[in-house]
Amino acid sequence: MHILRWAAATAVLALALSGCAEPRTSQSGKGKDDGGASAAQAPHPAYAPAALLGRVPGMRTQVVKDETHHVYAVWPQLPGATELNGAISKASRAAIATYTSDYGTPATGNGPHPELNRSWRLVASSGEALGLITEEYIFAGASGAESWRTWWYDLGTHKLRPNAALVKDRKALRDAVRKALHDQGTAVMAEEFKNALRTDSIPMMAFTRDGRLFVAFQEGQVAAYAEGRVSVALPKEQTDGLLSTFGNTAREAALTPSTPPLGDSTSGPQDPVPSAPPAQNVDCTVKKCVALTYDDGPGAPTRGLLDTFARQKAVATFFVLGQQVNTYPQTLKAIVAGGHEIGVHTWDHKDLTSPGMSASLVGDEISRTLDAIKQAGVPKPDLMRPPYGATNSTVLQQARRQGLSQILWDVDTNDWKDRNTSIVSQRAVSQARSGSIILMHDIHLTSANAATHVIKGLRARGFTLVTVSQLLGQTNPGQSYSRR
Ligand code: NI
Repeated sequence: MHILRWAAATAVLALALSGCAEPRTSQSGKGKDDGGASAAQAPHPAYAPAALLGRVPGMRTQVVKDETHHVYAVWPQLPGATELNGAISKASRAAIATYTSDYGTPATGNGPHPELNRSWRLVASSGEALGLITEEYIFAGASGAESWRTWWYDLGTHKLRPNAALVKDRKALRDAVRKALHDQGTAVMAEEFKNALRTDSIPMMAFTRDGRLFVAFQEGQVAAYAEGRVSVALPKEQTDGLLSTFGNTAREAALTPSTPPLGDSTSGPQDPVPSAPPAQNVDCTVKKCVALTYDDGPGAPTRGLLDTFARQKAVATFFVLGQQVNTYPQTLKAIVAGGHEIGVHTWDHKDLTSPGMSASLVGDEISRTLDAIKQAGVPKPDLMRPPYGATNSTVLQQARRQGLSQILWDVDTNDWKDRNTSIVSQRAVSQARSGSIILMHDIHLTSANAATHVIKGLRARGFTLVTVSQLLGQTNPGQSYSRR
């Protein structure tokens, strides 16, 4: 699948260069980014650093991934927040099931591929309240559709609160939102608007950086689809009058976020693995070198994997997702402390060649991840790997701008499909050649458990395990490599 995608992307690129077809990323998705002035003026909710949750002992994420259908979904699971965890899991799994039933047939050929991408962000966090946003992006072959939802959790009662619990008077909220929409010139469909507020189905309520109440609807929910995601930020004094007691608590958690008192406070977050293996001065022009690479982490199984590598005195390369780095900053530090190399695998695992992805969105996927890595206190990487191995000239150009070389692979273990330790290790060991880059994923426990066999098996075949940069030597930003 990966190799096919790469071949397809290359074919499209070749056509584009010969003038027979348009590059697939030449047009941006409607209203998704730097398009119109209205998008630039639109308010947006204040995001709290997800790294706050990275300090919560036992904090983890749940990931569902299906490369055949281009499904990537991640959501948080907070220690002790049972009701919140259950509700987000249920909604995420339902969305995946709907997408899979609608687009269940794997796409063939070179056309754009349907894609489901679900991610999350923290909007508020304190000892009293937590606010999260889940975001969904579906690309259905012609255009992209986005939806979002906020989740408010009362840490005093450990209960999920509906969005409308942020205000004390729903009628006053309805009137204020209607007026704000009118003032900004959004043509609202009256009946749909009434329903959205009556049935408690406002998908998003959060706060702007300056403390205004932000209210947003799904595409097509209260206005024509052409309007995109309709949102308003109510004026400050109106917001002040509307908020309930919980609403005020939530706003404080949004404006001055702090780490929530969750998890087992007696066991702090794990420290970085202290012992780095001896620096390897390996000459891969002489020795038979291979590079093991792990994508999509850091995740829950990454720690165990690092322990295995430390015991075997071996190194690997980890292509990390910015979103996961925020949740697992200590694990990222442990990767680097263990002598391994890291690279960028984008923020949230979107297919960068999707027609919905403009050049600036591709650039954001990379730069947001670099920011998260920097915030974790780890040196800037030199490498990147696009999700699904899907790449084109725009991706390479953005990689070059940010000083990154593109790393693909020549051995695919398909470990996401076959969650079987012996199959995975057998593939990695038997298909390796001198100079190979081997693809695996450290979000799967089976792949982490395969590591001892993989390392020993490769060494038995006379290979030396190195990082990608040790394997390739000096690489050029914006250039692509799939083996030595
Ligand atoms: Ni990936």
